[in-house]
Amino acid sequence: MEALLEWERAGGTSFHTPGHRQGQELSHRVAALLPQRLFTLDATEVPGLDDLHDPRGAIAQAQRLLAQEYGADESFFLVGGSTAGILAAVLATGGPGQKLLMARYSHRAAFAAAILAGCKVRYLPERWGGDGLPRGPCPEETAEAVRKWRPEVLLLTRPNYHGIAFPLQGVVHACREVGTVLVVDEAHGAHWQAAELPCALEAGADIVVQSAHKTLPALTQAAWLHHRGGRVDAARLRDALRMVQSSSPSYLLMASLDAARWHLGRWRAEARGRLEGLRRLRERLEEAGIPLLPRGLAPGWVHDPLRLVVDAGAMGWSGPALAASLREAGIEAEWAEPHRVLLLLGLTPGPEEEHLVQVLLQIARGAGEVPGGADRGGYPRLEKVMDPAGAWWAARESIPLEGAAGRIAADLLWFSPPGVPVVVPGERWTHEAVTFLRRCEEVGVVPVGWPEPARVRVVRRG
Ligand SMILES: Cc1ncc(COP(=O)(O)O)c(C=O)c1O
Repeated sequence: MEALLEWERAGGTSFHTPGHRQGQELSHRVAALLPQRLFTLDATEVPGLDDLHDPRGAIAQAQRLLAQEYGADESFFLVGGSTAGILAAVLATGGPGQKLLMARYSHRAAFAAAILAGCKVRYLPERWGGDGLPRGPCPEETAEAVRKWRPEVLLLTRPNYHGIAFPLQGVVHACREVGTVLVVDEAHGAHWQAAELPCALEAGADIVVQSAHKTLPALTQAAWLHHRGGRVDAARLRDALRMVQSSSPSYLLMASLDAARWHLGRWRAEARGRLEGLRRLRERLEEAGIPLLPRGLAPGWVHDPLRLVVDAGAMGWSGPALAASLREAGIEAEWAEPHRVLLLLGLTPGPEEEHLVQVLLQIARGAGEVPGGADRGGYPRLEKVMDPAGAWWAARESIPLEGAAGRIAADLLWFSPPGVPVVVPGERWTHEAVTFLRRCEEVGVVPVGWPEPARVRVVRRG
């Protein structure tokens, strides 16, 4: 950040990329709309500003400070989100024919990684709580699967989108016993360590990927990756990052990462007080009749107090209807599910948080709206019959959705949020999955990646 500001102060005239030439090339219209400094600071690899792909100066120093903050052996800036980090982590630790054990309820980036690396894949099924929230794979079953199958890589997501994390210790022990590298997609947990919540790096994960932009004050797309423990080939990891990241990484993103790391370091001192405040806030809401989730977490399981999951269904609302009412009051939620609404609270409370509480209290007093909206919950379960890479590279054909049952999917279809695929290449379509997709289409809630209405792509027979 300081190097970038220093460079700005020096104020040279740009005869290099980017094409806006530090804002000189802007039309008056654009210049009137967007702040000039956005362009002035949008630098490139000029002397003094280092190179993300071979850092020796300011970027190397910023990454070292980041590693210190998290207690990592090494940390890396990501300008392509956690997506880039997950791709690089798997490319660095698994390869063609090597075994990758992963949660089926993973973000689509995990499946992209499995395809690019060409791994042999096994999925861990998702477990659901009595409150309807996904809990992740069962940790005991995961540890057992690691011991039995002895995969090169285990890829888990923790915490999940709803902020729930399962105990990791048993899984770490199993990985150490058989030499499996544990990669944790901690996209939603960049603040966990500072908040003294049980984060994966401290529990013994080898590589942890975090979307700084999701919960810290970093620009969208800005994320980071840490490794620790010496079980990962660090040189290969660096090579993999070079492969998946842009050769023109944004200095705005990188500076925002540096600033977010700095902010987090200061927030650490306030974290306990904030968590105590959040506990009181939850109590206040629940006493006022606003049911919050999750309910009934087993000992050792943790929920992120910065995630407010409102059980709209228990209030007689649908999630989308509740989210629409919040929107009318100027509040935009993170995710409206059929029966729930997820709201992300900030590291630091401000007046907007009390506004949210007041609006929720008002809504609770007038509860009883007509539920509506499309039901996207309860994904159908499909059977894996081919590795995702095999199905991705296989010859494929487009067929009517109605005739898909029994055929092997070549499509990767997902809803965002949570970005978890409904269908993955290599899974066999079932009647249940066809009906699910048809219903989605009928109500106009179509997954991303769907090639054309009422058709899907499947692996060609023979
Ligand atoms: C669990 C999980 N992993 C990975 C990602 C990808 O992160 P990014 O958007 O930073 O690439 C997301 C994004 O929503 C996610 O929810």
